[in-house]
Amino acid sequence: MARDGQGLEVGGADARAIEALDFLREEWLAFGKRFPDFMAAADREERCALLPVMAANLALSMNSAEGRIIGTRYLQRARTMEKDASARERAWIAATAAWLAGDTDESLEIHEKMVSEWPRDLLAGKLGQLHAFNRGDAKALLRIGERLLAANRENHFAWGMCAFGLEECNRLDEAEAHARRAIDMERKDPWAHHALAHCLEARGRLVEGVAFLGSVADTWEECNSFMYTHNWWHLALFLIDLDRPDDALALFDGRVWGVWKEFSEDQINAISLLARLELRGVDVGPRWADIASYVKGRLHDHFVPFLDLQYLYALARAGERSAVTEMLASLEDRAQGAKPFEREAWADCTVPAAHGLAAHACGDHAEAARLLGQAMPHLATIGGSIAQRSLFGAIHVDALVRSGWNDAALKILQADERERPTIPATKRGLADLYRKLGRTEQAMAAEYQAEQLARQYRNIKGVAA
Ligand SMILES: [Fe+2]
Repeated sequence: MARDGQGLEVGGADARAIEALDFLREEWLAFGKRFPDFMAAADREERCALLPVMAANLALSMNSAEGRIIGTRYLQRARTMEKDASARERAWIAATAAWLAGDTDESLEIHEKMVSEWPRDLLAGKLGQLHAFNRGDAKALLRIGERLLAANRENHFAWGMCAFGLEECNRLDEAEAHARRAIDMERKDPWAHHALAHCLEARGRLVEGVAFLGSVADTWEECNSFMYTHNWWHLALFLIDLDRPDDALALFDGRVWGVWKEFSEDQINAISLLARLELRGVDVGPRWADIASYVKGRLHDHFVPFLDLQYLYALARAGERSAVTEMLASLEDRAQGAKPFEREAWADCTVPAAHGLAAHACGDHAEAARLLGQAMPHLATIGGSIAQRSLFGAIHVDALVRSGWNDAALKILQADERERPTIPATKRGLADLYRKLGRTEQAMAAEYQAEQLARQYRNIKGVAA
């Protein structure tokens, strides 16, 4: 049986099939954009099931109805080639079928088994990590990363994948060391850049964050739209916290929104950035309407709750009332039909959070605070990263402050301050709350610290949008 570049046996494969699979592995792990070349190879293939299976996974990772149709077609083709398939390829087929059926708990389980049995299969780990990510399962994300790394220590992608799992498990020092190791091995590793950005973000190391991402941004030109817009999104987050919302807005216009407006990942990067800018008082003009025009067709998507909540917020901020009403009803139906493993995500978190976000978007802050407060204890289950989910926490705090729930808001901001003590806006928020609560001395101290930090940050060089 032929073997790929990782030494894995591939059933039914000739030299061209192996070449296509090796190409896909490198392209996927490097977040490249030459996937159409692989799809063409998968279309030509007649014996090796792994090619159409991989094409199905690529299509499903689009998080779209069209992607599901294409994915279904490729999986059917793969099944016609199953007679030459090895146990590993049959596992790929089973995991893909489970994904198509909405059984992502089963997909994750199969991918974890694959990584245990064939730890050189880096894409089995990559997809397993995607399923873990979409369920907010940080432990599984790390388990997969560790198993891959143990068998691929010469591979910088494995270091980056393990780094991200460590970061999501809050093991920040180890995560940073792993990400830096990956970058030392290969400067052009956007996922390792990304893992390091998360580490710096988690500790509020803003100046380092901007300097680091700015120093490697030249390597993202060949990245696909998700990785390109997402790494620029991370840079914009640092700029917002550095009190430079205008620079972040320029990144929105120049880098984050506009690469592939139809793609879910581009859309949520844009939505999340615009929402954060508004929370800092920026007038974002007609930008919500533009985004909403692209997410209007997603009212009944429900692939990942984390995505749906952001689509809903964009529609609500754009004033698309009937679309919001329709999507809220659809989300309730989705929650009612949820399988046991996903009930907490859809019913306990997504439904109250969606209503809370809709309330916040139209200025009903007391209702938003109440509903988002219900959802918050379950937030991790909706998927996404810690940094991405923090948007919902920020909207919740905004609603608490605006509706006068000062004690509750204070507790959250104090916790934020302990974790990330370098953010002027957090200190200003604390100062306002201390003042409202009659704690004048603490208010003055927080204001003073905010001003000191802001002065420091004013001298940092800009990042070209
Ligand atoms: Fe990220």
